[in-house]
Amino acid sequence: MPIAETETKGAAGVALAERKDVLTVIDRRTGKSYEIPVAEGTIRAIDLRQIKTGPDDFGLMSYDPAFLNTAACKSRITFIDGDKGILRYRGYPIEQLAEKSNYLEVAYLLLYGELPTRAQYEEWTHHITFHTMLHESLKKFMDGFNHDAHPMGMLIATVAAMSTFYPDARNIHDPVSRQKQTWRLIAKMPTLAGFAYRHSLGMSYVYPDNDLTYTENFLNMLFRIPSKSWRPDPVLVRALDVLFILHADHEQNCGTHAMRGIGSSHTDPYSAVAGAAAALYGPLHGGANEEVLKMLQEIGSISQVPAFIKEVKEGKGEKRLMGFGHRVYKNYDPRAKIIKRIADEVFQVTGRNPLLDIALELERIALQDDYFVKRKLYPNVDFYSGLIYQAIGIPTAAFTVLFAIPRTSGWIAQWGEMLGDTEQKIARPRQVYLGMGERDFVPIEKR
Ligand code: CMC
Repeated sequence: MPIAETETKGAAGVALAERKDVLTVIDRRTGKSYEIPVAEGTIRAIDLRQIKTGPDDFGLMSYDPAFLNTAACKSRITFIDGDKGILRYRGYPIEQLAEKSNYLEVAYLLLYGELPTRAQYEEWTHHITFHTMLHESLKKFMDGFNHDAHPMGMLIATVAAMSTFYPDARNIHDPVSRQKQTWRLIAKMPTLAGFAYRHSLGMSYVYPDNDLTYTENFLNMLFRIPSKSWRPDPVLVRALDVLFILHADHEQNCGTHAMRGIGSSHTDPYSAVAGAAAALYGPLHGGANEEVLKMLQEIGSISQVPAFIKEVKEGKGEKRLMGFGHRVYKNYDPRAKIIKRIADEVFQVTGRNPLLDIALELERIALQDDYFVKRKLYPNVDFYSGLIYQAIGIPTAAFTVLFAIPRTSGWIAQWGEMLGDTEQKIARPRQVYLGMGERDFVPIEKR
C-alpha cells in the first residue's frame, strides 16, 4: 500500500490515519505528516522514500549497518525468540527434534516444510545415499592443496568447483534440476569434508559406504583405517547427528544472508553455498567453535579463568569470550543447553575432555559477572560443541566444517524460499555516500 501523505492540519489520508495498524510520522523539516502502514510488526523501508524535503530530494532511507533492525525477507522456515531462548524449525521445538528425530529427517523438514512420511523418508534417504560419491577429478582437485591447507578453505573451494562439474545447476528455475542439486549438495558435503581431513593427514581417501547412515558414513570417511574393519561408536554417531540437527538452520544469520544475497543474482547453488560457507568460516560466526578451543587451551587451567575474564572485560570488545554472546539470543542459546547434555554422554565413551572444567568455570563466572549479565551474554552453540568434536577425535581446524555440513540443508531451504518469493529481487542495499564531491583529475606529476 503506498504511503499517504497529509499536511498536519489537512484532511487527506484520513482513512489510513484512522486505522490502528498505521504509523504516523511527522517530518519536522517540512511540517508534513505521513501515515505509514504497519504489517507483521514492520514498516516497509520503501514507504519512507516518499518523505522528501522537496522535489530534488531523493527521499528518506533507513540506515541500518549490520542489519540490527531490518527484516530482509519473510520466512516460514525457522523461528527464534531470542529473549525467551526459543528455536523452532517449521514450528517444531528444537528440543523435540534433537530428542526424537535425525538429521536427514530434519533436513527434509527444513526443505519441504513437513516431516516426511515413511515412504518419503526412505526415498529421500535413498537419493542422499546414492549421491555421496565425488567425481574423481574433484578428488584430483583436492590433491592440489597443501597438506596444511585449512579444511574450511578446502571445503569452500571444492564446493565452488562442483559448479563446474554440474553445469545443469545453473537451471535454477527448473525444479527437477534444483532437486538434484539439493541431493548432491547434502550428500557430498560430508564426502568433501572427509576427503579434506584425510588429505591433511596424507592418508588415502575413504569412499562413501552406502550401507551406513549419513552420520556413520561421515565418521567412517574420517577415521576408517583401510586395513582394519571399523564401526563408529553408536553414542558418538547419535551425538554427532544431534549436533547436525542443532546446526541445520538458524534463520537470517551471516552465512544464510550470504546464501540469499548471492543466490539473488540467480547464480548456481554450488557457488552460493561456497559463498555462504565463506561467511560461516569467520571467527565471529561458525569459526567461533575453533576459536573456543584455542581460547580454552590458551587459558590452560581453572586458576587462570578469573585473569582471562578480567582481560576480556578490560579489552572493551578487543578480546572476546569466544562462544559467548549472540545477536539474537539475549538468553541461554537453547542449542547450547542440548549440547551440554550430549557432552556428558560423549565423555562417558571418550573420557572427560579436560578442557570441560575450564569451560564450566568460564560459564559459571561469566553468568554472574556484571559485565556479561548487563550485556546479556550467554553461551552460544559454539561454546561446548568443540569439546565434543575434540573428544570424538576431530582436529580443531575441522570444527567449522562440521557446522557447514548440516547448515547446507538450511542454506538450500532458505535459497529455495528466496527464489519462490515474488517480492524478492537481486539484493542491492543502498549507501550513505560521505566521500568527496566532484573534483577534477590531477595529473600524476602535479599531485
Ligand atoms: N565477549 C565479550 N564481550 C562481548 C562478547 C563476547 N563474546 N560478545 C559481545 N560482547 C560485548 C561487546 O563488546 C559489546 O559491548 P559494549 O556494548 O560495551 O560495546 C556488547 O557485548 C554487544 O556486542 P556486539 O558486538 O554489539 O554484539 P553483536 O550482536 O554485534 O555480536 C556476536 C554478536 C556473536 C558476533 C558477539 O557476541 C561475539 O563476537 N561473540 C563471540 C563470537 C562467537 O561466539 N560467535 C558465535 C555466534 S553463535 C554461532 C553462529 O550463529 O555463528
